[in-house]
Amino acid sequence: MIFPRFLWIFLMTYSLGNGAINSYSEAYTPIPLSPTQNSSTVIDGFKLAVGPQGPRGIPGRCGCDPSEIAQMYTKFEKLEDTLENITAKLERMSELHHYAITVDQCDHMPCKNGGTCINDGNSYICNCTDDYEGHDCSIRVQCVVPAAPNNGTVFPQSGQLVPHNENITYRCNNKYVVAYDVNNYLVATCHKKKWTRYTPVCVLDHCDPGSCSGRGTCINEIGRIICECDEGYEGNECLVESNPCHIANPPCGQSGVCFSEGGRNYLCRCLPGYKGRHCETFKTSLCRYTVGMEDRRVQNRDITASRYSGYPATYARLQYSNSWRLHPVNANDWLQVDLRKNTTVAAVATQGDQGSSSYYVRSYKIAFGFSQDALQIMQNSGGGDLIFQGNRDSHTIVRNNFPAPVTARYFRILLHSWNTNYAGLRVEYYTCDP
Ligand SMILES: *[C@@H]1O[C@H](CO)[C@@H](O)[C@H](O)[C@H]1NC(C)=O
Ligand SMILES: *[C@@H]1O[C@H](CO)[C@@H](O)[C@H](O)[C@H]1NC(C)=O
Ligand SMILES: *[C@@H]1O[C@H](CO)[C@@H](O)[C@H](O)[C@H]1NC(C)=O
Ligand SMILES: *[C@@H]1O[C@H](CO)[C@@H](O)[C@H](O)[C@H]1NC(C)=O
Ligand SMILES: *[C@@H]1O[C@H](CO)[C@@H](O)[C@H](O)[C@H]1NC(C)=O
Ligand SMILES: *[C@@H]1O[C@H](CO)[C@@H](O)[C@H](O)[C@H]1NC(C)=O
Repeated sequence: MIFPRFLWIFLMTYSLGNGAINSYSEAYTPIPLSPTQNSSTVIDGFKLAVGPQGPRGIPGRCGCDPSEIAQMYTKFEKLEDTLENITAKLERMSELHHYAITVDQCDHMPCKNGGTCINDGNSYICNCTDDYEGHDCSIRVQCVVPAAPNNGTVFPQSGQLVPHNENITYRCNNKYVVAYDVNNYLVATCHKKKWTRYTPVCVLDHCDPGSCSGRGTCINEIGRIICECDEGYEGNECLVESNPCHIANPPCGQSGVCFSEGGRNYLCRCLPGYKGRHCETFKTSLCRYTVGMEDRRVQNRDITASRYSGYPATYARLQYSNSWRLHPVNANDWLQVDLRKNTTVAAVATQGDQGSSSYYVRSYKIAFGFSQDALQIMQNSGGGDLIFQGNRDSHTIVRNNFPAPVTARYFRILLHSWNTNYAGLRVEYYTCDP
């Protein structure tokens, strides 16, 4: 869409001896313009820009004034020279004079119907909207309405022109439907010069209310019908009940594995922590895997405490023959386990001392964190520190389920109350993950 009718008007000077052009020369007194100076003027809606850009990139001196160029331009017009003729003269002049006047044709707003004019220096381009085309965007973009389908019609009539973005409607005659579709009509839109949809094929409708056993959508293809079965059914006629475990949204959720029990029956085997027919309930009390205090998967070096009295922190393993002991006890005493990796813990169990019935912890708080220096205390729903009820004797295991599982590397029991002046502790933590 490049519009080639741009003008390069080259300036003439006194010294020009060419007869054909000389007649103009007397009328103009060139006013020197510095080589770097630019100027412009507007005449008849055309912006004439003057600058030190000579043709073929040759720099030079501009002995011109923009208003004179405008007059000269007008004079050419008045002589009713053809554009080609003017151009031919100007080209001859350009051999001697190296300053150019470009006509900014975009200034004349040559692009119609909302097209954008792009001036690239030598010419302009109209960037038309989708609805129009042509060098000045004056031609409406249209599509020709195709022939009607067999056993159908098209509106508007075949052969008519429809503008960009407008629709035509194909319709199949009575008892016919659009093949591969559920409707008896189809709408196509003219997009640029193409239709968005092909002309449909109209086929006799072979579907009836009994098709697909009433459990699916019947679709006419060419020469046959097919069923798109409702969820839960499959087979050509939608007669087979789908394996409920194989449907798009299996019933056991993400936390369970579905087992088919024939027909529509199924069983969900839930992941640890989950229960319910569809594994919909999560309970920390269902998390039964230990982190390894009792079975010594947690190593001694990873069990530490604030202090101890004869019996170190490494004795604090559930069911061990002694326990971590403190006597007397301070309010700030604690027992910590480093699980070495981030672990989701759901519960804690405690036990007092095996050998001495006076050593046990009545209540405690739990702190946890990714680093020892940034532990946080587990909170209750009211925003206060959660206090867990611990042991009432030194041998019974008391398990406390967390309100929700927490993920951390360090878990610390903060002693809150104990049996008179004695604290003895054996511990296990529980996770849902094996
Ligand atoms: C003159 O116009 C040319 C081309 O547009 C430009 O490169 C140059 O910087 C302009 N000079 C001045 C002094 O404005
Ligand atoms: C310029 O115009 C004159 C008279 O109209 C004509 O005779 C001549 O052939 C033209 N020249 C060109 C190069 O078209
Ligand atoms: C033409 O207009 C379109 C839409 O505004 C734009 O995306 C595209 O870049 C334009 N083309 C040019 C050459 O400027
Ligand atoms: C449907 O179209 C076919 C193919 O053009 C034609 O043979 C048949 O007669 C048409 N049926 C009717 C009812 O117009
Ligand atoms: C053309 O059809 C499309 C899709 O069916 C619709 O969204 C749009 O509104 C229609 N346009 C006109 C002009 O009717
Ligand atoms: C544990 O998780 C936290 C937060 O995602 C992360 O910054 C930290 O590096 C993790 N620690 C380990 C030991 O993976």
